[in-house]
Amino acid sequence: MKVTIFGTGYVGLVTGACLAEMGNHVVCVDVDQAKVDGLRNGVIPIFEPGLEPIVRRNYASGQLDFTTDPAPAIAHGELIFIAVGTPPDEDGSADMKYVLSVARTIGEHLDRYAVVVNKSTVPVGTADRVRKAIDDVLGERGAAVDFDVVSNPEFLKEGDAVEDCLRPDRIVVGSSSERAVARLRKLYAPFNRNHDRMVVMDERSAELTKYAANAMLATKISFMNEIANIAERVGADVELVRQGIGADPRIGYHFIYPGAGYGGSCFPKDVQALERIARGHGYDARLLGMVEAVNAQQKTRLFAQIQKHFDGDVAGKTVALWGLAFKPNTDDMREAPSRRLMEALWEAGAKVRAYDPEARAETTRIYGERDDLVLCDNAYDTLQGADVLALVTEWKAFRSPDFARIEAVLKNPAIFDGRNLYDPRVVEDAGIAYYGIGRGRSL
Ligand code: UGA
Repeated sequence: MKVTIFGTGYVGLVTGACLAEMGNHVVCVDVDQAKVDGLRNGVIPIFEPGLEPIVRRNYASGQLDFTTDPAPAIAHGELIFIAVGTPPDEDGSADMKYVLSVARTIGEHLDRYAVVVNKSTVPVGTADRVRKAIDDVLGERGAAVDFDVVSNPEFLKEGDAVEDCLRPDRIVVGSSSERAVARLRKLYAPFNRNHDRMVVMDERSAELTKYAANAMLATKISFMNEIANIAERVGADVELVRQGIGADPRIGYHFIYPGAGYGGSCFPKDVQALERIARGHGYDARLLGMVEAVNAQQKTRLFAQIQKHFDGDVAGKTVALWGLAFKPNTDDMREAPSRRLMEALWEAGAKVRAYDPEARAETTRIYGERDDLVLCDNAYDTLQGADVLALVTEWKAFRSPDFARIEAVLKNPAIFDGRNLYDPRVVEDAGIAYYGIGRGRSL
């Protein structure tokens, strides 16, 4: 099918590449000329495993193209996806200006029936606002063109985005138009071969489904962090508790890993936005507020432990830091727990020597050059001259380090394990003090 996608961020680029891979003709539109030029030359603006070969291959074969010119792109698409950003505005609500600006652009150029598909995470009621924005512009033009607006939220995870997109566990389609649903059914047929993954519903339910999914996952994490904090105080090990409760299929093993808090571009933003949506409709969503509050506190855990370890005086100390990205397999630093830790350390007069397999450039972009931050070329370099080690992101490369080497180099051998990656006994047997999250010994 002929597909147009507005926005070449995470969602737009991955969706475009995967739809092209499935044999569709996809045109991606972005306002950023440099980004479009880069993509045409195979330069992928994000680190995402498996994405580059798909983009390059499909661009070379002509299945996938990139442009800044909306007019021919809108003429091309039977389906026109809106996959632009919805950043939080000052009060935490999702800012709809990019989505509505694309809607107006579509209104300016649309000249035959098309299905407009909202893929961005948008407040409930956005499908109606997009429909109205397009209608208004068509009215100004005096053009009578039929179109439908569908809500089709995306559930891909950074780091697994291509895999999630090619093998979705469900495809949520919110639309009351049979014609539009039929078009999406055709588009998604190759993803639906073994069993039907399409869940068709009304637009508002689809919009709420996206927020509900992320809020539920964030709630699981904050709940587990709360249990971890209790475990520490009562002398229990949350890792054992996790296994004990995960075995119940009603709870499950997924997303109950305690840690240094959740980050990324989705959970923090979406939990806040859902709270604002509820408030806007006269409902005080207290649970969501607490999910956020527990997470904010959790992001300060590692610093609090380090400070306590040094009897409140971390000034002049150097902390080796493993992992900067908000999770493994991405270079994304948005809302990353590492940032809270580094900023707290700097404020207290400590220095950081950090290593991340992918997020070095992003860290420099955010913090620039500064005396209290040294970005190292590998994990062991961070230990030179450092007092203690903090692990913030559980990259595979950090899973089984040489503890004897760590012990030999650190001035004050201690590991602050923000992801409970290590066996405390193994670390302590190597002569290193161990602090985990909720492991009954890190008070
Ligand atoms: C999340 C959702 O998982 C996707 O389903 C959703 O499509 C996406 O948001 C989105 O709305 O676009 P993502 O933000 O890429 O995906 O990352 P996750 O893998 O969900 O991790 C989020 C954060 O939670 C990370 O900081 C991770 O370290 C943390 N986490 C995750 C935990 O602390 N404990 C866990 O058990 C799981």
